[in-house]
Amino acid sequence: MLISYFRRHCPGRACVMVAGSFLIVTLGFLPSSAAADTFDVPFVPTPPEVVERMLNMAEVGPSDRVIDLGSGDGRIAIAAVKDRAALSALGVDLNPVRVEEAKANAKDAGVSDRVEFRQEDLFDTDFSNATVLTMYLLPNVNMRLRPKVLDLAAGTRVVSHAFDMDDWESDDYARLGNRDVYMWVVPAKVAGAWQLDGPEGSLALDVEQTFQHLSGIAQTAKGHAMPVRGKLRGKEITLQIGDGNEARHYTGTVQADTMAANPATGNVVQGWRAVRR
Ligand SMILES: C[S@@+](CC[C@H](N)C(=O)[O-])C[C@H]1O[C@@H](n2cnc3c(N)ncnc32)[C@H](O)[C@@H]1O
Repeated sequence: MLISYFRRHCPGRACVMVAGSFLIVTLGFLPSSAAADTFDVPFVPTPPEVVERMLNMAEVGPSDRVIDLGSGDGRIAIAAVKDRAALSALGVDLNPVRVEEAKANAKDAGVSDRVEFRQEDLFDTDFSNATVLTMYLLPNVNMRLRPKVLDLAAGTRVVSHAFDMDDWESDDYARLGNRDVYMWVVPAKVAGAWQLDGPEGSLALDVEQTFQHLSGIAQTAKGHAMPVRGKLRGKEITLQIGDGNEARHYTGTVQADTMAANPATGNVVQGWRAVRR
């Protein structure tokens, strides 16, 4: 029944193979009630040490609003507020049995005032105010969520147990036994034309962006063109402009339509600023 469910929701051959291995690897963890699940993903709980690693990787702390999509028995959301003192946590699950179980677990853990569980389809969930998003879903579900995830505020951390986001490379990764944990930091959007001014002079930048990876061209006022390469981790940007001996390194922070140097030491350009052209 579960295999036919995966076939229906995950028609690609590779996806069926991955889902098949997922089921084989995790079947031993399935409680008997899971056999009756007919949701996008069956209930398979994340082991406690993996929950701990997910929350550590995302550096969950007192200012975080954590949302677990497909929250099962509530363990990730509960650990976020109980063990990491998150400001709040929300878990959504389509299965009412899981939601009741999660509420009871939150009560037992004494954190019902800071964690909410809702019966809801995760594809309908407004998670735009999350600072940390967690998931243990399936590759096709991750991919359906990906456009919405990429539209979250820059700097939002997204942690996934077991499954990646295809060509959106993770910013952090850990393997615990046979478990994979991936983390992405939603990158700021910087594609386009910029005017950069600093001690090295003025440059016109044309930036292309693929997820957190940047490339492009920088041109001096005299028309000298240099390659641009760079990377984003949320709002934090690093750029290398030029090659070889003429390469200059810039580190800074993006705020909407401006970028500015971070106070930094080392071999980086100081005191620069860029605005969109
Ligand atoms: C693999 S379990 C993960 C549970 C928990 N997040 C954890 O890591 O321990 C996936 C959960 O997603 C829920 N689920 C499946 N499809 C869903 C949907 N469309 N909307 C919300 N929850 C869903 C299932 O009921 C199940 O509890």
